[in-house]
Amino acid sequence: MKAADVLELVDLSLPDPNGRRRRLASAHTVEDLERIARRALPRSVYDYVAGGAEEERSLSNNGAAIRRWRFAPTALADVTNADSRTSLFGHDARAPFGFAPTGYTRMIDTTGEPAVAAAAGAAGIPYVLSTMATTSLEDLATLSPSTDRWFQLYVWKDRGLTRELVDRAQLAGYRVLEVAIDTAVAALRTRDVKSGFTIPPRLTLRSVFDIGTRPRYWWAMLRSPALQFANVSSPSGSGASGYSIANITQQFDPGVTWSDLEEIRSHWHGPLVLKGPIGPADALRARDLGIDGVHLSNHGGRQLDRAVAPIDLVRPVRESVGPGMSVFVDSGFTHGADVATAIALGADAAFLGRAYLWGLAAGGRPGVDRVARIVHQELLRTMQLLGVSTIDELRGRGHELLALA
Ligand SMILES: Cc1cc2nc3c(=O)[nH]c(=O)nc-3n(C[C@H](O)[C@H](O)[C@H](O)COP(=O)(O)O)c2cc1C
Repeated sequence: MKAADVLELVDLSLPDPNGRRRRLASAHTVEDLERIARRALPRSVYDYVAGGAEEERSLSNNGAAIRRWRFAPTALADVTNADSRTSLFGHDARAPFGFAPTGYTRMIDTTGEPAVAAAAGAAGIPYVLSTMATTSLEDLATLSPSTDRWFQLYVWKDRGLTRELVDRAQLAGYRVLEVAIDTAVAALRTRDVKSGFTIPPRLTLRSVFDIGTRPRYWWAMLRSPALQFANVSSPSGSGASGYSIANITQQFDPGVTWSDLEEIRSHWHGPLVLKGPIGPADALRARDLGIDGVHLSNHGGRQLDRAVAPIDLVRPVRESVGPGMSVFVDSGFTHGADVATAIALGADAAFLGRAYLWGLAAGGRPGVDRVARIVHQELLRTMQLLGVSTIDELRGRGHELLALA
């Protein structure tokens, strides 16, 4: 080898002095980002996000059920122009995935919901804002006017408040309304009970210890405005901060029935979606009520434990409702190949929950951008290696492209 050849192999560029940027650049998978997030978050906050209900059987099964599927590719298909674009309720999306609603997002990183919505907008994918958000739906609409914004509704015992939220979402330009039907009562989240975790977080001996180990997190939290359920105010009139997670979930109505859905249907003019562990018979009933889509979800294993994995509901639900109704799915999605599997089973799109929260905790908005890019590239690569060029083709040929391991 000549000296010039050797020199070409030498890389003497200095490492990025910005630690957060350097760590993000070293993350190539969602799992990498989760590892960084785990080091950035206090233990109890990490466990609050990562954990599930009861024995965490739904949680551990969600990802396993997605990854039981194996791809059977087509040989020698020209995939030069593979394209992940799709249409969700008549709106173009750059890829068939989106960011699912998560409550209390500013506790993960102070930039919270606006950072996630901005990243979704930049990636050309939808973002669903939670009723339990720490940014009000009006503020988010102002901050992210061009993001495809959907709103997730909980049905409250106070039907006036439920109606008010629907009206506000409509007025603020949210395009799709998702009604979550999996939270009749609060689940028992075992890790939170054991760690004594509360929302809002209380200063306890344990959290004082956390401050010592995660000073950067606590310093940012202490300098930012108080965390509040920004979409609702407390019954005492003391402002949203008067609510804790325990007393707020008691305000959700365990008596919600199909007739409430009819009522919401008559008020909401845009696409209406049911979010929960919905089987083929209920999906059909929803369709007959004029509901436009189902978002198959077991809340990421955080509500009913031992629930069927939502990925396993995709094909039966699609077969039951036919091609006209939108079918979305979440719970356990961390990779573009997971998204490809859902589409091949018949879904219109998959949603990510924890995956983007790990990006947010690891690096704020750039961390969420990175999640969107990683998953998008994984999806495109999977499509090309499978021998398919469009999302419609992936869905249409799903039966021949998938096999159970
Ligand atoms: C920290 C956290 C908070 C959540 N908050 C809500 C919420 O307020 N409303 C809702 O409908 N779903 C909520 N979910 C469930 C998500 O919308 C989604 O169904 C779930 O995260 C998908 O599973 P995954 O985390 O495995 O991707 C939450 C999930 C997490 C992890």
